[in-house]
Amino acid sequence: MTTNIATLETELTAAVETAADEAALEAVRVAALGKKGSVSELLKGLGGMSPEERQLAGPAINGLKVRLTDLIAARKAVLAEAALDARLMAERVDVTLPARPRLKGSVHPVMQVFEEVQAIFADMGFAVAEGPDIEDDFHNFTALNFPEKHPARDMHDTFFFNEKEDGSRMLLRTHTSPVQVRTMLSQKPPIRITAPGRTFRCDSDQTHTPMFHQIEGLVIEEGIHMGHLKGVLMEFMRAFFEVDDVEVRFRPHHFPFTEPSAEMDVRCDRSGGQIRIGTGSSWLEILGCGMVHPNVLRACGIDPDVHQGFAFGMGIDRLAMLKYGIPDLRDMFAADVRWIDHYGFTPTVQPNLATGLS
Ligand code: PHE
Repeated sequence: MTTNIATLETELTAAVETAADEAALEAVRVAALGKKGSVSELLKGLGGMSPEERQLAGPAINGLKVRLTDLIAARKAVLAEAALDARLMAERVDVTLPARPRLKGSVHPVMQVFEEVQAIFADMGFAVAEGPDIEDDFHNFTALNFPEKHPARDMHDTFFFNEKEDGSRMLLRTHTSPVQVRTMLSQKPPIRITAPGRTFRCDSDQTHTPMFHQIEGLVIEEGIHMGHLKGVLMEFMRAFFEVDDVEVRFRPHHFPFTEPSAEMDVRCDRSGGQIRIGTGSSWLEILGCGMVHPNVLRACGIDPDVHQGFAFGMGIDRLAMLKYGIPDLRDMFAADVRWIDHYGFTPTVQPNLATGLS
């Protein structure tokens, strides 16, 4: 009996140690310790033994059972680890492989121009502010001195949401000017920010898309006047179009939130089907601007007798069209890979004033 047990242990130990994987090991376990397994059968045999026999065989068989169970558990851990190692090797990805050109991606001209514009204004000490695309009437119109029910609210071709229970309607902001209000309500002068972002108007043709991009500028400091506005914008044009001299003109205009208000045009040449900035006999409208209206300052808790400021807003997509010779604005948002391959910029070169904008 004892020799039987010893022989069985030798056999089972060998079987466990040579089991090549977890499935083979499980088969060994069932054959030994399962309901009809060899060790289980031995245990069952204890019942038919004399007390003397049992006293010898009992501890021997139980000892075998315990040792075998431990051995199987240890082997199982080794096999599981080996299986994981094998899987990790099989699923390995070599991240040092160079990317295929198709995968490199490129920067959209609109994002490129945002970066360029921000680099120029950062150099003049402007911080970047942000506001939500979905605005309320107060920030988009009322605080900006649009009178209630004034037709100017309709002139903006506003996308309104459905009325809420209180009768108010949220809207997609029609310009980045609400960020002026948000900034003045949350910061104290001196303020010097630009606010880039998406804007929306119900309009679509070669030079208009329902979603477009603007960048707003706002400066609130003591003693700020139109001369500062002109200086900043002229310097911006020179830096952005990367030409020594850009001739600009300011035309009187009306915005409810600025007084006086102006639109700025740049001199350009439209002969030959292309637009060239800086020379020629034509003018191209680039932006709206003006001195912040006292009512706007008051609505934002700023005393117009102490602080003055200027603001401007320009279309980023237009600037991109002009600078990079893009003929149709709608193509910009058509998500055509061929278009972005042609007009896109390499993502690894950040525009900056030291090494060049574009
Ligand atoms: N918000 C105006 C527009 O979208 C532009 C503007 C901004 C004009 C700031 C004056 C001052 O047309």
